[in-house]
Amino acid sequence: MTALAEVDTSYRQAPDALDLGHIPGNHGLPVLGETLEVLRDLHAVAVRHLREYGPVSRIRLAGQGGLLVMGAEHFERIFHDPEQCFSAEKGYDRQLGIFYPRGLLLMDFDEHRANRRMMQGAFKVPALQRYIAMMQPVIERHVREWGRDERIIFYPRIKQLLLEIGARCFLGIEDFEREAVMINDLFLDLNAGLVSVLRVELPFGAFGRAMRARRELERWCRAMIAERRRRGAAGEDVLSQLCLATDEEGRPYDVKPIVDHIIFLLFAAHDTSTSALSHLAMYVGRDTAMQDRLREHLAPFGPGPLTHTDLSRMDFAQHCLYEAMRLHPPVPMAMRRTIRPIELDGLRIPAHTVLHLPMMMNQRDPRWWTEPDAFDPDRFASSRQEQKRHAMCFHPFGSGAHKCIGMFFAELMVKAFLWQFVRSYRFTVPPGYAPRMQWVPLPKPADGVPLRLQPA
Ligand code: HEM
Repeated sequence: MTALAEVDTSYRQAPDALDLGHIPGNHGLPVLGETLEVLRDLHAVAVRHLREYGPVSRIRLAGQGGLLVMGAEHFERIFHDPEQCFSAEKGYDRQLGIFYPRGLLLMDFDEHRANRRMMQGAFKVPALQRYIAMMQPVIERHVREWGRDERIIFYPRIKQLLLEIGARCFLGIEDFEREAVMINDLFLDLNAGLVSVLRVELPFGAFGRAMRARRELERWCRAMIAERRRRGAAGEDVLSQLCLATDEEGRPYDVKPIVDHIIFLLFAAHDTSTSALSHLAMYVGRDTAMQDRLREHLAPFGPGPLTHTDLSRMDFAQHCLYEAMRLHPPVPMAMRRTIRPIELDGLRIPAHTVLHLPMMMNQRDPRWWTEPDAFDPDRFASSRQEQKRHAMCFHPFGSGAHKCIGMFFAELMVKAFLWQFVRSYRFTVPPGYAPRMQWVPLPKPADGVPLRLQPA
């Protein structure tokens, strides 16, 4: 593997490549390109590009020209990147760089490896076991309280629940009402900036509010780190562990990278898990026979509290989660930028070309999946294992160096939630329920999934 020192890092300063006229496709409207169509239905745009232009085509999104790339073969090369040709940092820079600078996904190669190492301890099994113990009382309380209403909108409820889990497990916040709500409001402002068109810091604009929220979050994290270090960083949450972590020479990490990583982690963790669970609730709420099967599958793991071993054995629950994320990957579009000229699908791709990588297409590709649009969790069962038909036909958590560091955390949390929820209620969506699906910026059923709850 080539070390970063040997890679010419001037790619970081280079502007995006614009000489893409020889590649089939269409840049759409000036500046906006196909942004509005993608906001309406990313999946439909990707299907149309594949049909009209093939797996590699020209597209312009949010003012940035680049290519839309599909196909498991191309994803394998890009995500596994044996020749170090693809930069995640420059792929995401324009979208996320100002809002989440120095987050793990905005780093490449050796620098990325060193920073990922710093976080690794917080996601190993002993740490996960502690998070499982921390999250269960939160899940139990929220799910019990939901039963006060016969009808709920699932999305805001699960978002609130997962926010509290994040506050406890990532930040060690005990006073949820006061601090976590304030943190959540800052993230709402910060993320509203992601879609702001005018990136100028005006007093009342979305971008200005986002920048103020980022500074406020940084101030809050710095104060938390100073306080943890003063107390000897007692605590089992991720932030405390980052405060205790040391580099290869045994030195504690500087405050700045801890701040940048924890803010990015909260961003990466929260809405993704909310999205996965909302689709799952929709499918299982539609199919009462499948819900009964899930209930029977989960019953023997009672009465709780659940252990890491219990959760690891919930294979049907895991397959239901996989199937929801196969059809609706919570990260709808990954991004990379080429570092040097390459050839892809027989086309010459210049250095510094932005690649938009829609995540749902390989996961619905009929070459790998039987009845690809059907919700069928058993396709992941050991007797079928359709996900093994290609190394890159199923990748909701990404693959390669940047594969999601919170994957096991997310899976365990979803199963701990399902166990509590499915045991407590029979839940159904309205008859004939067919919501409009939202794909970007975050995939979810646009109406938030109305559910009727009855005691199980
Ligand atoms: C269902 C939930 C989740 C999904 C579907 C998901 C998906 C992903 C994907 C696709 C990537 C790779 C993006 C790329 O290569 O361009 C990623 C990276 C990442 N995820 Fe997740 N994620 C989830 C939950 C979480 C959680 C709970 C955490 C934290 C506890 C987390 C933290 C991260 C971080 C830090 C990265 C960057 C890793 C790196 O660059 O090395 N994610 N995630």
